[in-house]
Amino acid sequence: MTPAASVRSDALLVAARAARENAVAPFSKFRVGAALLAKSGTIYSGCNVENASYGLTICAERVAIFKALSEGDRGFEAIAVVTDAEKLTPPCGACRQIIWEFCGDAEVILGNLNGKVEVHRMSVLFPFPFDVSNL
Ligand code: THU
Repeated sequence: MTPAASVRSDALLVAARAARENAVAPFSKFRVGAALLAKSGTIYSGCNVENASYGLTICAERVAIFKALSEGDRGFEAIAVVTDAEKLTPPCGACRQIIWEFCGDAEVILGNLNGKVEVHRMSVLFPFPFDVSNL
């Protein structure tokens, strides 16, 4: 990683870790934080939000993306996801669809509370996608 990329991923991991503190996860107890870097330079964060109707749960990644979109921002470069799991947490299938559609071939930075980090690209995590090009 270049020094600039490393500063960028550190900033996203710090924001995702802070967002994780707000996780609403009374059922799974699995707390997730995400942070999305817009091309505008703004970082949008999100946490998972669970509720009694379990299937209505929304993941941290989608909260961050929908917050950004609802603020009018468009075009995103990278998203970080932080959990307390030793095995790093990749975005679920639903989130991969949304990340692909709104962020394209973005960088996905996975981290945990012990400082373990991996960086993947969406085109690797989500090959052969369905998107607007299929409509
Ligand atoms: N979760 C996320 O927020 N993001 C992921 O990448 C994986 C899963 C949440 C959904 C649910 O609240 C909890 O983690 C357990 O699945």
